[in-house]
Amino acid sequence: MRDDGRLRYGGDWNPEQWPAEVWREDVALMRRAGVNLVSVGVFAWSRLEPAPGRYTFDWLDEALDLLHVNGIRAALATPTASPPPWFSLAHPGALPVTADGVRLHHGSRDTYCAAAPTYRAAARGIAGALADRYAHHPAVALWHVHNEYGTTCHCPHTEAAFRRWLVDRYADLDALNAAWVTSFWSQHYSDWAQITTPRATQYLANPGQLLDFRRFWSDTLLAAYTEQRDLLRAANPAVPVTTNYVLGDWVPVDHARWASEVDVVAVDHYPSAVDGGAEEQTALAADLARGWARHGAYRRGTVDAGWLLMESAPHQIHTAGRMHTKEPGRMTRHSLSHVARGSRGVMFFQWRASAGGAERFHSALVPHAGPDSRVFREATRLGDLLARITEVDAGRVEASVAIGWDAACGWALQHPGLPSQRLDQQAEVAAAHRALWRAGIACDMLVPGDSLDGYRLLVLPALYLAADATADWVRDHVQAGGHLLVTWLSGVADEHGRIRLGGYPGAFRDLLGVRVEEFHPLAENDRVPLTGGGHGLTWTETVHLAGAEPVAAYAGGVLNGWPAVTRHRVGDALTWYVSTRPDGDTYQRLLTEAARSAGVTPVCPDAPPGVEAVRRRDGDRSWLFLLNHTDRPHRVPAAGTDLLTGEPVDDAVTVPAGGVAVLREPPG
Ligand code: GLA
Repeated sequence: MRDDGRLRYGGDWNPEQWPAEVWREDVALMRRAGVNLVSVGVFAWSRLEPAPGRYTFDWLDEALDLLHVNGIRAALATPTASPPPWFSLAHPGALPVTADGVRLHHGSRDTYCAAAPTYRAAARGIAGALADRYAHHPAVALWHVHNEYGTTCHCPHTEAAFRRWLVDRYADLDALNAAWVTSFWSQHYSDWAQITTPRATQYLANPGQLLDFRRFWSDTLLAAYTEQRDLLRAANPAVPVTTNYVLGDWVPVDHARWASEVDVVAVDHYPSAVDGGAEEQTALAADLARGWARHGAYRRGTVDAGWLLMESAPHQIHTAGRMHTKEPGRMTRHSLSHVARGSRGVMFFQWRASAGGAERFHSALVPHAGPDSRVFREATRLGDLLARITEVDAGRVEASVAIGWDAACGWALQHPGLPSQRLDQQAEVAAAHRALWRAGIACDMLVPGDSLDGYRLLVLPALYLAADATADWVRDHVQAGGHLLVTWLSGVADEHGRIRLGGYPGAFRDLLGVRVEEFHPLAENDRVPLTGGGHGLTWTETVHLAGAEPVAAYAGGVLNGWPAVTRHRVGDALTWYVSTRPDGDTYQRLLTEAARSAGVTPVCPDAPPGVEAVRRRDGDRSWLFLLNHTDRPHRVPAAGTDLLTGEPVDDAVTVPAGGVAVLREPPG
């Protein structure tokens, strides 16, 4: 982002939905709320190009000029997530096809095939026209390409592109047949032309084919992004380019792999939990975003690891068929949770609630009720708060624990032919993250291959796929004295999903000093008691000790007496194996103990339960964020200057019920 030193604050502004007098009210209200960045034109294709090649930029000229004279910057979007009806009618072959062969039609958004040449050409056309016209507009601080890449398709264009991708990946069919184990069920391919996308079929599909299709499609969407990015960059290299990531297990995008292709990682986050889980989900989303940003910076060889919360909900979160709300104060706490974890600002979907259209009941900073409303008043206070804490933008989040995960593992665990229908890598990653979050221990989210320098403990939750390079990455960490905690179902398969033979967890067996002989998945409501307290959920295993010592055993069920959690010393490091999903409290105790033995303590050891503490540091300067998610005020031991009040804090600060405090700590 072209920087003016302020934290970014704003949201999606859609002038195409409103007459010009509303724009003027909008901008006056933005100034009142302290808004300094808005996403513009995200879904404005039909207003910008009402007929092929005929552009109507006059209204956008006026809207951007209005922003500029009011000191508000624009994240100018390319509107390619929603082609106009004329496009679909002119190019029916560019409409997407589902796995069971149904061709979809326009009438919503995102209805195109990203592999269709006519779609790609039209997308380049509108992106190039916007670049030519606005790349040097003084309001444009950032390009926002497309919106939430996340569609999929099985049309003939996709199929042809999938084959080309497979030829690039495997070069010869023997290698593909071996990787997909096509000897099973007579699936041997003798010609590339026989290979299709994983369409609807009679019974279980080939897991290798499914996995490669997900990888291929992520690369295809990435190519659709990079070709737009290159046009925008060529028009003015000084304006950074990004796209907003959408999160969720349905998303066919490997965000980490994309991270080196964006100038700033941008994420949209809408927690799905209605209770306290929303705070944990917020923390996880923000830690993921920071991890992607770091991964991108690491790959690019730069040190700039910034990221931006591009969308969130001020109040009602509207997802298909469900709506839940944020009570007063929660918008601010969630926003600060993102900033505490490194976001360069706070953005919302959207600025003004729409008067119609599919998402008319999604909340906005200016709700249907207008600015005389609780939400707009909270938005104005949030703008003021962000202005007071600008200096935190210099700080980096400190963490000595890393969680290692990988999008492809999640995809592989979605295959239905697994020993349990309740395997979900994202849920396992979230459970490990939640246990650390509850323990107040900061962590970074890494993908295999990222630098592990400075991390004292690496946690691998259900890292099902492990290439040889991943096994080396973990081994090097342990040999350098780094501690390790691995959970069930990790290291079981190679990068193609072929099982590593000789006992689970194949790739990590030696490091952990265990050999797992059998899986014993649990039924939905089953739990197995563990010695030392707590229960195992979801999954259990027969663990043979091969150097490790037992830490806890199963205390009931068919595995009564067998080790459930083990610990092994490898040189200076301890390696832990957890063969079940411990319940929340037990997981929290276990990770606290693993972190403690690695020399890692909570960010703010005396913070009471329900008060979240995050520290950002820049050399000897540091800032402590305290977010009180409870309905009572809490006094937390801390010192420094309270940036919200300007008052000194000698030994403790009172964080109001549901409120926040941000302290500049004394140097050193
Ligand atoms: C996403 C999209 C927005 C809007 C919001 C709210 O994040 O990017 O266009 O649909 O969700 O549902």
